[in-house]
Amino acid sequence: MNILLTGGAGYIGTHTCVAFQEQGHAVIVIDNLCNSRAVSLTRVEEITGKPVTFYPLDLRDRAGVQPVFERHPVDAVVHFAGLKSVAESVERPLMYYQNNIDATLALCDVMKHHGVKNLVFSSSATVYGNPETVPIKEDAPTAPFNPYGRSKRFIEEILTDLHQSDSSWNIALLRYFNPVGAHPCGRIGEDPSGVPNNLMPYISQVAVGKLPELMVFGDDYPTPDGTGVRDYIHVMDLAEGHVRALEKIISGSGLVTYNLGTGKGCSVREIIAAFEKASGRRIPVKISGRRPGDVPAYYADPSLAEKELNWRAIRGIDEMCADAWRWQSMNPAGYGETG
Ligand code: NAD
Ligand code: UFG
Repeated sequence: MNILLTGGAGYIGTHTCVAFQEQGHAVIVIDNLCNSRAVSLTRVEEITGKPVTFYPLDLRDRAGVQPVFERHPVDAVVHFAGLKSVAESVERPLMYYQNNIDATLALCDVMKHHGVKNLVFSSSATVYGNPETVPIKEDAPTAPFNPYGRSKRFIEEILTDLHQSDSSWNIALLRYFNPVGAHPCGRIGEDPSGVPNNLMPYISQVAVGKLPELMVFGDDYPTPDGTGVRDYIHVMDLAEGHVRALEKIISGSGLVTYNLGTGKGCSVREIIAAFEKASGRRIPVKISGRRPGDVPAYYADPSLAEKELNWRAIRGIDEMCADAWRWQSMNPAGYGETG
């Protein structure tokens, strides 16, 4: 199949390109490179030995995107493109709504025009807000509490309306939990710009000596060791989840929603211990206050994806840390160093 990946030069997109190419699919990428570098796609080509067709375009540029659909018989679209920083979304909500929502509207418009009605959308567990109970099932109430999360929830609703208006659309809303790790070869991985917001890239940069110490945001949560608990999922497991989701929609699924997580919660302290083991480095730590907006614990009930997609995350926390460390230690400056 010909699969178009929007935002395909980014962290999850590159790993998913590899997974699709390994299944024999042709990939076409649209990305405006606002949070990525084109060299990431050259690395994908190195890994798979197959070409990636790349269009450096903003998805909101309909006139630019139209010809891509004219040139390629696209069978399905996986829509990763979007801005994803919670903190930035609080400071610049209009930019988040404009980018994430306008890009999705433009994409769907062009898809509709070309009769392409198979779509996988990158949603987030953040749509659940502070869950009433864990593990979280797909039918749990949604209550995102920041503009980033609301942009995801609004897009889910837009896509639901689209499907309601025309049931020949097949749409998978994938709610990712916490993607971490990297391809095991160490050539592609997460390359945040500036100081990382998220735990795993922050720890990696402390381990490699770029940052002095990790601030643990609170050790007084009602969790087994007092630190925050999350469902970390290896990015290659997540990438393979997209392959299964695509197979599902191509079979004529209609609108479906799946949690992609492991179902296991892991604390900040457990991650630190696993990373120290994987890297052989000590991670200096300082306990600070809770980060505003953080929830104590959430993790997925991934049983629906297991049942309907025949997919399950198989990589554990040690493998996530080992692969994150290989990427970080082989590329201390991310994609910036080896260009
Ligand atoms: P990323 O920033 O590495 O990748 C997103 C890509 O989209 C980037 O390459 C960026 O340049 C591109 N992009 C953004 N706006 C665009 C536009 N208007 N036109 C064209 N390209 C555009 O992020 P990621 O971690 O790979 O995340 C991929 C998707 O998954 C995002 O939608 C994100 O919100 C979602 N998600 C990520 C996480 C996570 O923790 N990484 C968790 C849940 C959901
Ligand atoms: N943490 C620290 N120190 C840090 C960074 C994080 O102690 O320097 C802690 C947090 O308090 C939390 C845990 O590590 O307990 C995980 O934090 P992350 O920032 O890595 O991840 P979050 O669960 O807060 O959020 C992430 C993405 C969101 C997404 C959400 C659900 O940043 O965009 O997962 O998918 F919505």
